[in-house]
Amino acid sequence: MDLTLAIETRKSIRKFKKEDVDVNQIMKIIEIASNSPSGGNSQNWFTYIIKDKDVLDGMRNEVEKVYKTLIEKEAPGVYTFFNDAPVVLAVVEKPYAGSIDNILEKTDKDRNYTRKFIVNPGLQSVSSFITHILLLCHNEGLGACWMTGPLIAKQELEDIIGVKSPDNLVALIPIGKPVERNSKTPRKNVSEIIKVI
Ligand SMILES: Cc1cc2nc3c(=O)[nH]c(=O)nc-3n(C[C@H](O)[C@H](O)[C@H](O)COP(=O)(O)O)c2cc1C
Repeated sequence: MDLTLAIETRKSIRKFKKEDVDVNQIMKIIEIASNSPSGGNSQNWFTYIIKDKDVLDGMRNEVEKVYKTLIEKEAPGVYTFFNDAPVVLAVVEKPYAGSIDNILEKTDKDRNYTRKFIVNPGLQSVSSFITHILLLCHNEGLGACWMTGPLIAKQELEDIIGVKSPDNLVALIPIGKPVERNSKTPRKNVSEIIKVI
């Protein structure tokens, strides 16, 4: 698919056909997505490919449990639908600290905080990786959705998956053959997102 067309037609998919997805296809997608840019070429991403239905159901239960405890309501579907997909990626951010971070840690606590938690090059790097995974899935006729909602139960999900500190689970990506969704979500006018200086 032409790159522009892929970017313009990709959309989040939240309903999947029952059909299975070949794990080798997913591994190839991840391999290609690993060409993504990363701070200092740190490649500070790691991906769990989860296919086990019991594990996915367990993850969903934890999200529902934590949500209900904190908010005293059923968790909305947009937090919990991931276990209906035949495969779910759990994307992990590994710690990233460039030479600037090491200098700022000793010299300027405020700038160090801003760089670590606001600029956050480590998380930006993993985001570029996730973006490419979504586009590659779309290019291969697979539907996917970037999800952080379920991470209301981040610790519980990490325990189930086996993510150990200092690594951080940052997103889930359910993937499957899409049940068609016609509408595209609206976008801001380009004049609202550009200023030429
Ligand atoms: C960081 C991030 C977190 C998201 N978390 C969720 C989520 O938890 N559940 C969900 O259904 N969609 C989630 N989305 C998908 C957005 O809702 C979606 O990208 C947005 O509405 C634009 O629609 P589109 O992807 O179809 O273009 C997330 C997207 C991003 C980038």
